[in-house]
Amino acid sequence: MYEPVIAVPPSFAASALVDEAGYRAMYERSIADPEGFWGEHGRRIDWIKPYTTVKNTSYGHPDVSIRWYEDGTLNVSANCVDRHAATRPDQVAIIWEGDDPGEQRLITYRELKDEVCRFANVLKAHGVKRGDRVTLYLPMIPEAAFAMLACARIGAVHSVVFGGFSPDALAGRIEDCASTVVITADEGLRGGKRVPLKANVDAAISRISEDHFAPVETVIVVRRTGGNVAMTPGRDVWYDEEAARVPAVCGPEEMNAEDPLFILYTSGSTGKPKGVLHTSGGYLVYASMTHQYVFDYKPGDIYWCTADVGWVTGHSYIVYGPLANGATTLMFEGVPTWPTNARLWQVVDKHKVTIFYTAPTAIRALMGAGDEPVKSASRASLRLLGSVGEPINPEAWLWYYHTVGDNRCPIVDTWWQTETGGILITPLPGATALKPGSATLPFFGVRPALVDNEGNTLEGAAEGNLVLLDSWPGQMRTVFGDHQRFVETYFSTYKGTYFTGDGCRRDADGYYWITGRVDDVLNVSGHRMGTAEIESALVAHPAVSEAAVVGYPHDIKGQGIYAYVTLMQGEQPTDDLRRALVHWVRKEIGPIATPDLIQFAPGLPKTRSGKIMRRILRKIAEDHYEALGDISTLADPSVVADLIENRMNRR
Ligand code: WTA
Repeated sequence: MYEPVIAVPPSFAASALVDEAGYRAMYERSIADPEGFWGEHGRRIDWIKPYTTVKNTSYGHPDVSIRWYEDGTLNVSANCVDRHAATRPDQVAIIWEGDDPGEQRLITYRELKDEVCRFANVLKAHGVKRGDRVTLYLPMIPEAAFAMLACARIGAVHSVVFGGFSPDALAGRIEDCASTVVITADEGLRGGKRVPLKANVDAAISRISEDHFAPVETVIVVRRTGGNVAMTPGRDVWYDEEAARVPAVCGPEEMNAEDPLFILYTSGSTGKPKGVLHTSGGYLVYASMTHQYVFDYKPGDIYWCTADVGWVTGHSYIVYGPLANGATTLMFEGVPTWPTNARLWQVVDKHKVTIFYTAPTAIRALMGAGDEPVKSASRASLRLLGSVGEPINPEAWLWYYHTVGDNRCPIVDTWWQTETGGILITPLPGATALKPGSATLPFFGVRPALVDNEGNTLEGAAEGNLVLLDSWPGQMRTVFGDHQRFVETYFSTYKGTYFTGDGCRRDADGYYWITGRVDDVLNVSGHRMGTAEIESALVAHPAVSEAAVVGYPHDIKGQGIYAYVTLMQGEQPTDDLRRALVHWVRKEIGPIATPDLIQFAPGLPKTRSGKIMRRILRKIAEDHYEALGDISTLADPSVVADLIENRMNRR
């Protein structure tokens, strides 16, 4: 295979935080002496009571326990806000670019402190205390960051739910963490269209069973569009009215390093989404350190990550990492394709963005629109590009590099997960020669390894399952309310290691190439989804008796959703029903889970013990039905011919 290698630009190496030799030395030290390394780098944030212990972690199944800096105390919001408000009050902390190109807000660190304190006081006035869970269901507006930091300030635990999720999905997440306070907006605005957030919250709350032990008591509504929404007296309040009544001063709570900071729900291969729990000290050290080194962040940079705060990328690399570093972070409410395909590059020019971090799906979609929209903007301010969320194909990488970056900007392809809290495998732009499509090398303190399906370690150039041999400070600590599930999901497959769920190849230079999920998790446009969730939504439809969902390669989304559906006796497999099922799944989970292809299947391939053979379904969905392997173990091998005959994805 031809693999171009792109050397570190001399200009980067000269001014970067670390060069190649520096990376090697720091990496080796971080592995040889994690205590010393993280003990030193933990001091990059402010502690109220400094820690005396650094690492106390065990991957020993079944007693997995992960603690970092466990006797230190701090406040995350004081680190992201107060220390910069004191030293650089007039620097812009957040540039907000509205969906409408005519709308923007610039919020300085001084203003950020006032806003966060006010929001914290509103939460307090509604009885929110340390340890309470608060659900956020917000558009990409500065109030989302204010609310997250306000929770951190008073020691409450936020659970941000992506605004594209349906009322049902929201209800499940509110119930699971028993949050009695929900923060939302009247409506969101994306690509000129209104999103009925408050109405969705109402619908979600009405779905939470009456006898749930923690009913929602308060809904705080931020005014975004001014659209008409129903307000339930005694439960719903307008944020602006509440904020006007409280002072803009609120002291930060002293929190332990291991006190929870947030919960973020994410999909796994089985069951309902898991509440990934991150804690305060180690998470912030890791988010801020990776933000600085991976993006070669320096004061004066204008940094833009296009993620939504509803995903972990928004948590670590729009809010916590950049703000902990006193950076100027850009928050974008809109979409890359509205009003035109040139929007992202116009925003880059307008705000003189120097560091730009986005997802392969956006790159592929814009690549499809041609070079003209890119060339219509100068992009002269850009010096570094980033990619996250899914494997980036070399073709999209090269387009990003040549066309968007004018061959001038290194690309950091960053591999990580909701569970990892921050970036684990990535180039450092001043240190790492790049190979398009490879996430390259581990960050400091990260020990990746490849194992075969039996758990044998693979050495040298090899392909296998990606595991991590030891902990890093940003690692998730548990599944909220279910530590057993945490241990089972991540530490029981290959004992003594954390299993990522990803497949990976390591080349002769030691570079890592993530090949995608090896479990039943899909990655559609960089959004993670469990096949089990989509299947359970489908079988909840009265016409459906059975469903199996798999992924297949999709030019823009990376993966598309392919659903095999068996109907109830007497139901007719019509196009109308197909459309109804698509609509149903959108309503049950949200538009991100929209099935791309639905095949009506009289029967699914099952073993004699009743287990669905997904391997076969995947091959047919990929249109590679020539190599199905042994199907003689199926209870009824004849179903396969029908599946092939009526397959939906023909090239
Ligand atoms: C995939 C997003 C290849 C991977 C931060 C992982 C990637 C899952 C990359 C986590 C990358 C993320 N190259 N694959 N640079 N980044 N992934 O939890 O399969 O939404 O396990 O976190 O996305 O998705 P999550």
